[in-house]
Amino acid sequence: MSPVLIRGVRLYGAGDPVDVLVDDRQIAEIGAGLTAPADAEVIEATGQILLPGLVDLHTHLREPGREDTETIETGSAAAALGGFTAVFAMANTDPVADTAVVTDHVWQRGQDIGLVDVHPVGAVTVGLAGEQLTEMGAMAAGAARVKMFSDDGKCVHDPLVMRRALEYASGLGVLIAQHAEEPRLTVGAVAHEGPNAARLGLAGWPRSAEESIVARDAILARDAGARVHICHASTAGTVELLKWAKGQGISITAEVTPHHLLLDDSRLASYDGVNRVNPPLREASDALALRAALADGVIDAVATDHAPHAAQEKCCEFANARPGMLGLQTALSVIAETMVAPGLLDWRGVARVMSENPAAIVGLADQGRPLAVGEPANLTVVDPEARWTVTGDELASKSTNTPYQSMTLPATVTATLLRGRITARDGQARRREVDAP
Ligand code: NCD
Ligand code: ZN
Repeated sequence: MSPVLIRGVRLYGAGDPVDVLVDDRQIAEIGAGLTAPADAEVIEATGQILLPGLVDLHTHLREPGREDTETIETGSAAAALGGFTAVFAMANTDPVADTAVVTDHVWQRGQDIGLVDVHPVGAVTVGLAGEQLTEMGAMAAGAARVKMFSDDGKCVHDPLVMRRALEYASGLGVLIAQHAEEPRLTVGAVAHEGPNAARLGLAGWPRSAEESIVARDAILARDAGARVHICHASTAGTVELLKWAKGQGISITAEVTPHHLLLDDSRLASYDGVNRVNPPLREASDALALRAALADGVIDAVATDHAPHAAQEKCCEFANARPGMLGLQTALSVIAETMVAPGLLDWRGVARVMSENPAAIVGLADQGRPLAVGEPANLTVVDPEARWTVTGDELASKSTNTPYQSMTLPATVTATLLRGRITARDGQARRREVDAP
């Protein structure tokens, strides 16, 4: 693998521009005016920013089972182009990732493609049915070393099952991530319960469906002495509960999606199925509360909840559209728009919520590392001044269900490096075969 010289970047977007030499999978040298070794690939990045590679705790890659909508290969390309060096692929595939056979397959497939580390998430319950715990220990001990378990797409709603899952996970040192949705409160629900849904005649999903589970699980985690992670926090009330729980010393962490930070339920008026997502787009006041919580650390991390769906599953009546939106290639830009532009986070803060914190939450030793000599070269180069217009057809994902269609957003990822190898550059993903020695 040839060395890479990144010229003229500012580390975390601050300080004087420096050159960064990457060799032998690591950051080999940082300094001004470094000379490129003869065989080096040079990235001219004057005016650009260097961040640690981004880590996504919540991605749906659809393989196995729905390879018509996304594969580990197309999803990996979207991830690399979005600046990610590690993603966590949710377990709601077909078959469900509830055995080591499936989780090891997903991990190995990701390694063979080599664009991003694809960490499989194991299911908490067999078949996501919410009844019988999976053999988490076997998945954690397999080749994939599964670190996170979730029934995402569904809530582990039985409190006794959730209690046992937390106890079991705590003993194994792995993380339970909860899709917080009390199913009795969301029967038939397709949109945020509020004036907009009422006016449009859409069945409402109340904030309480999320908040009642967040409160319950905080208490269960407290009494089990376990950690719990809340997926896609979407309401101002969840923010208050997280504040309370963290104040009590409960081991609780939470993620927020880019779409819940930028979009709200005023978009529903078009009845366009692209806006259907779980949890639903909330009100503008919720989005503002989520932004403030991400800025002050009450919410720990950004996670995309990248959820590809086929055109026929989205271009239909709103209530029949599948919930979920693409997110991998637009995440950094949406964070630039919602958090950096208004001054809520600087780029140092972006590195924290999109790389360091997610890596720490799940215990990834080689990601979210400092930009320093001797560290693994998992890196993302960002042009903060560039702007681009999103077109679903041009995204690497096999599906096109982006809610940002035709929107112009700030910041582009110009290069991504995984263990010193360029996985994306100037809008092109580079599979391992392309430049293998
Ligand atoms: C996800 C999916 O499509 O798998 N959909 C969604 O609306 N977020 C499931 C999930 O993350 O809950
Ligand atoms: Zn979910």
